[in-house]
Amino acid sequence: MYRLVCVHCAATYAPDQIIYTCNRCGHLLAVEYDLDDIEVFRGEWDRRPLSVWRYREILPVRGEPISLQEGGTPLYHLKEIGRELGLPELYAKHEGMNPTGSFKDRGMTVGVSMACQLGMTSVACASTGNTSASLAAYAARGGIPCVVLLPAGKVALGKVAQALMHGARVISIRGNFDRALEMVHELCISHGLYLLNSVNPYRLEGQKTIGFEAVDQLGDVPDRFVLPVGNAGNISAVYKGLRELEALGLIDRLPMMTGIQAAGSQPVVKAIEENLNVLIPEPEPETVATAIRIGAPVNAEKALVAIRATGGTAAAVTDDEILCMQRDLARMEGIGVEPASAASVAGIRKLAEEGSIDRDERIVCVVTGHLLKDPETVVRQCEPPLEIDADLHSLLSALRL
Ligand code: F0G
Repeated sequence: MYRLVCVHCAATYAPDQIIYTCNRCGHLLAVEYDLDDIEVFRGEWDRRPLSVWRYREILPVRGEPISLQEGGTPLYHLKEIGRELGLPELYAKHEGMNPTGSFKDRGMTVGVSMACQLGMTSVACASTGNTSASLAAYAARGGIPCVVLLPAGKVALGKVAQALMHGARVISIRGNFDRALEMVHELCISHGLYLLNSVNPYRLEGQKTIGFEAVDQLGDVPDRFVLPVGNAGNISAVYKGLRELEALGLIDRLPMMTGIQAAGSQPVVKAIEENLNVLIPEPEPETVATAIRIGAPVNAEKALVAIRATGGTAAAVTDDEILCMQRDLARMEGIGVEPASAASVAGIRKLAEEGSIDRDERIVCVVTGHLLKDPETVVRQCEPPLEIDADLHSLLSALRL
């Protein structure tokens, strides 16, 4: 059994109510389970493959989900970068290895399954790119129409390509993501589409499984969990999930939740640094990491709780630091990620260099999306291929052999 509960005033709503914010106070909702009733047999989870659906007892979907085999992503030991930073226990959970190349697939398998379970006949989202790519694919899989709103000119090529190819109705607005989200929210309320941004409490349930998998892969709770923060849904989701594991008695402590933002778009970092409870939105967010180019993160209230309650922190990294780490992950570790994803590891580099983290910590950085999502930013950073005549002599001289 589960219900929807306001994260602010604790008002409760029936689980089949189509509602995204509290009628009483306007804050966001979360799914609350009767954890005492849930019979979770740890051994049974261990027998199932690593995937979102390994943990189905604490997910809201009943019956067969709409799935593309999401989750079960690799947890890589960052040996070289860890050695450089003096962090022997540094890991990256590569969410770019999901079906559409980002962690959003964990949310969408649950979100689109819930859309169908609730009898909704169309779905929509605003997106900096990955959410739209993922929703388009899962809507196609579920056979329901999908509308996505994008900030014009600010979405990486691979993501737009995915949304188009999976058959979404793709609309670019002359405005930023924050405005697109307001618009799609209004559209969904007025025209009955099912909203699948991270204001949707069911979608975030799928994303909490990143934390479950990392604990299962390490065989223990990491000391620190590091995520890039845009709308702040993912960091909130991972924290919520780990608290559920704690309530079930499956873990006995929580990691320090650590959020990393881009310097040109860092309202959560400022709220943590200045000890604010209410976020001051950034009206003109700007960063090369377009996925997290968000000035008014809607899940900030939850993220601030997650960071503060676990003794975590938040830090900002510059575009240069992000791109440098994107290259280092690719060249030193063989791990290809998009710029926003490199932000989490760039943040750890910064915190380690400042001396603000303990070198013995076991750290999991979530790298959220695949390198191929944003080929244009890659090509801009790298030398183009050397074009030569088609003969061995030219090849040898190009290779200086
Ligand atoms: N990393 C990537 C690659 C993302 O696409 C996003 C968010 C984040 C990190 C931040 O996650 O919003 O939960 O804090 N992308 C959204 C989108 C906004 O529309 O694809 P968050």
